[in-house]
Amino acid sequence: MNEPAVSHGPAAYAVFGNPIKHSKSPAIHGAFAAQFGADVSYRAVAVPLEAFEEKVAAFFRRGGSGLNVTVPFKERAWAMADSASDRASKARAANCLIPLEGGGLHADNTDGLGMVRDMVINQGWQLAGRRTLVLGAGGAVRGILQPLLAERPASLTVVNRTAERAQQLATEFADAPLSISAGGFDSVAGCEFDLIINGTSAGLAGEMPDLPEGLLSERCCCYDLVYQSEPTAFMRWAAARAAWAVTDGLGMLVEQAAESFYLWRQQRPSTAPVIQQLRELMTP
Ligand code: ATR
Repeated sequence: MNEPAVSHGPAAYAVFGNPIKHSKSPAIHGAFAAQFGADVSYRAVAVPLEAFEEKVAAFFRRGGSGLNVTVPFKERAWAMADSASDRASKARAANCLIPLEGGGLHADNTDGLGMVRDMVINQGWQLAGRRTLVLGAGGAVRGILQPLLAERPASLTVVNRTAERAQQLATEFADAPLSISAGGFDSVAGCEFDLIINGTSAGLAGEMPDLPEGLLSERCCCYDLVYQSEPTAFMRWAAARAAWAVTDGLGMLVEQAAESFYLWRQQRPSTAPVIQQLRELMTP
């Protein structure tokens, strides 16, 4: 009620999450802003679980120019927005909120595009015509499916520990030009893939889903949506099976941030130097 309106000073951006302490977003957006000499502030804010909607509203009431949203608030960010991009609606989650000119909020989801850009532009991988396997059927996977389908893979298979969740996702995307095959991990026994994406959170506990052998084609690319300072369990699994290329999701993190920056400011930052900078900082 009594919050002051911010009409001067730097354009204010933030990321809301819980937990948020180790977020790299302030460093990434700081580096982007420096490329344009832009007067911008970007803070990482730990938001109490019960206060998300209220804090978002207060942020924009005070003149905030754009907001990133991360775990566990992406679904709520999408739900509270007044309008949403198609990709956010398909994901039923948003990682980017943009104030509308006449008031209200627009929700977008830049995660999937960030992943696709990292694969295609930074890694030089071709996605069209590739037999693609996605591991997991949670929020992270939901966020990437539409941009992945837009790249026109030869086939798209989603497998999950709980097969029903994968089948549910396939049903939700039934109107896509390509129908998604879905099942449990065993359902892909005897199949080969050219691209395997790990979207499970198993790696966070140092685990690797129990997959059949023989899944990697000769030039199979393997991509983990998460990143750690050391290769993830999935990356080690892929390397041990002679994957043609293996990478983590650090580039995706920077690319999704670049797309948010673009949506807010209509300026497209260079991502390569920022990815390199983060990689160097993370190298133990
Ligand atoms: P996120 O937002 O990270 O996607 P989520 O929605 O909780 O989080 O989804 C976590 C995903 O990782 C799910 O696909 C989950 O499988 P279930 O649906 O069967 O729970 C998967 N997952 C988590 N731990 C796993 C493990 N140890 N082995 C295999 N899959 C695992």
